[in-house]
Amino acid sequence: MPAPLNTRERLSEVRYEIRGELARRARDLEAQGRTLIKLNIGNPGAFGFRAPEHLQRAIADHIHATDPYTHQQGLPVAREVIAAHHAARGAQDVSAERVFVGNGVSELIDIALRALLNPGDEVLVPSPDYPLWSAATILNDGRPVFYQCKAENGFLPDPDALEALVSPRTRAIVLINPNNPTGAVYPRALLERIVAIAAKHELLLLCDEIYDGITYDDAPFEPIAPLAGDVPCVSFGGLSKVHRACGWRVGWAVLSGSEPRSRDFRNAMDLLGALRLCANVPGQFAIEAALTGVDTITPLCQPGGRLYEARRAVVEACAASRYLTLNTPAGALYAFPGIAADVAAGFDDHAFALDLMESEGVLVVPGNSFNVPYRNHFRVTLLPEPAQLREVFARIERVLERRIGEARKVVPLTPRQARAAR
Ligand SMILES: Cc1ncc(COP(=O)(O)O)c(C=O)c1O
Repeated sequence: MPAPLNTRERLSEVRYEIRGELARRARDLEAQGRTLIKLNIGNPGAFGFRAPEHLQRAIADHIHATDPYTHQQGLPVAREVIAAHHAARGAQDVSAERVFVGNGVSELIDIALRALLNPGDEVLVPSPDYPLWSAATILNDGRPVFYQCKAENGFLPDPDALEALVSPRTRAIVLINPNNPTGAVYPRALLERIVAIAAKHELLLLCDEIYDGITYDDAPFEPIAPLAGDVPCVSFGGLSKVHRACGWRVGWAVLSGSEPRSRDFRNAMDLLGALRLCANVPGQFAIEAALTGVDTITPLCQPGGRLYEARRAVVEACAASRYLTLNTPAGALYAFPGIAADVAAGFDDHAFALDLMESEGVLVVPGNSFNVPYRNHFRVTLLPEPAQLREVFARIERVLERRIGEARKVVPLTPRQARAAR
């Protein structure tokens, strides 16, 4: 028999457990008739959220105009609006020519890295990361170099440690702010330090700001582009999360900073965009409505709002837990609880997640899926109803009690066992 088809070798370095082995096992269980609570994907539409009506209407009103390909960088009117939005925030030298609309931020992450990297080039990626960033670096022949964002530091990076990782091959720094999976929101002073590092070492800033409107308790989100000034910077945003329209596949990348320094990069993005012709057109008609219309995300993130109350349910459950610790998420759609250090020895996040699914019907993502060097965290999305999250954490506690609590109990020997042991 002819040999099986070879696949790209570097795929073996890529992980995407969010839709990986555990998610496949979940599908098998569902096919067998099990009902699962799946908290592995930040997909608002799967939890009853709808895209705002004025966005839906904008698409419906223009559906007659969506048949042709559009410009490879996206609909001109949408790019104008995105550029104006970023200019109003204070980004330097943005214009429609430096805006790229893609099939979600996902596609643009790949295009940006493909435009930038030569074999062996390094990209500084946060750990934990949203694993597409490391995957896309690898698949574009680069090397992700992880900088640690430790729980004890609020999941924020130490800029000195980050700078120590810069090598002659380093090309870019990736930031995810507000952060998936940790919920960290980066303070201005930290962003300024990172900008200074990028300026000193002539690195491109790649800032994934897809959760830019989702913060809690007045955590101040600071877009990095205005702080970057003329340092070349790509800011990523889109409709998937803030506007709850993941399935429309609409994202954008905005290049700011020195035009002469980033001209070749811009042209490379343009060429790569042209090779795939254009992004899906219908959803692009919602961009103007999204960026100039009524704010529908803030009420969800304030007390009484669905996301706020979901987050409160998780925070309270973790506080009441005998085993869990949590850095309260300040933004985004996730919580990243850890197993407390005094009971974490030997804890295996993957085995725990599998056990939780098999025994309690709850699917979470093990922390090690996010390229961390430890095995005692997991991620849940904050998208379910608060009551469902309370139920989920009751089930999680039962599994932890069985896996940690009971294992730690010292079972007294029976008199016969004691005699035999002598
Ligand atoms: C940090 C981050 N970046 C990018 C994406 C992908 O977004 P899109 O739906 O625009 O492709 C996600 C999706 O969860 C994400 O969490």
